[in-house]
Amino acid sequence: MPLTDTRSRYGWISIINHWTIALLILGLIAFGLVLAGMPRSPDKGALIQVHKTLGVLALALALVRIAWATLQTRPGAVEGQSVAAERLRDLLHRTLLVATVALPASGVLMSLYNGHAVAMLGLFTIPAQGEVAWIAGPAHLIHEWGSYLVLALVAGHALVSLIHHFWNDDPTLRRMLSATPR
Ligand code: HEM
Ligand code: HEM
Repeated sequence: MPLTDTRSRYGWISIINHWTIALLILGLIAFGLVLAGMPRSPDKGALIQVHKTLGVLALALALVRIAWATLQTRPGAVEGQSVAAERLRDLLHRTLLVATVALPASGVLMSLYNGHAVAMLGLFTIPAQGEVAWIAGPAHLIHEWGSYLVLALVAGHALVSLIHHFWNDDPTLRRMLSATPR
């Protein structure tokens, strides 16, 4: 069972990490938008705690993913891509990786500087930092508008992978689904 990445394919650790984070990020964007539309109530307070816990989990997985990726040979684009397509692929992947850290990190800052503590997966708790509008405000902007940007980028990212699969009939999507694609 290939766990590590090579120049031509992803290993299981990268594959499982990619799909877990993808699910968490898309789920948390939907969850966050539902929360934003709810009036203040004890139920909303409880749901925000769930959102924060899942968000901190996404942050931890994103950091693991970046650390793992730096230890690995990075899989290149499948053969036959133009230089421009390879550059665009690199840029999109790097932007998505940055976003997987920036979205939860902005959520943590927004909470802390709006006067709420943040529990880090039961390991430790970062205490509330009082109400500091010049940090909480921009953090909220990044959290909200960064989420819209990621939705747009992921739509393009998913579309490109479907075009590779159905139009070009190349292994781009298959190698992100299995470490031993047929
Ligand atoms: C339905 C949703 C998605 C599909 C179909 C999809 C598909 C893929 C595929 C096929 C690759 C390999 C591309 C290649 O090697 O050229 C890939 C890589 C990647 N995807 Fe996605 N993806 C999805 C969602 C996401 C989300 C939500 C994120 C993060 C916000 C994300 C971030 C990345 C990154 C950073 C890579 C580069 C490889 C790595 O670092 O793991 N993807 N994706
Ligand atoms: C990948 C991780 C995350 C994503 C994609 C995400 C996404 C979102 C989105 C889209 C919103 C709605 C924004 C708005 O319209 O105002 C939201 C709200 C919120 N998020 Fe996150 N979030 C993530 C992680 C976190 C983390 C780690 C925390 C804190 C520890 C957090 C705390 C909050 C809070 C407090 C709200 C405001 C709820 C309200 O009062 O309406 N989020 N999130």
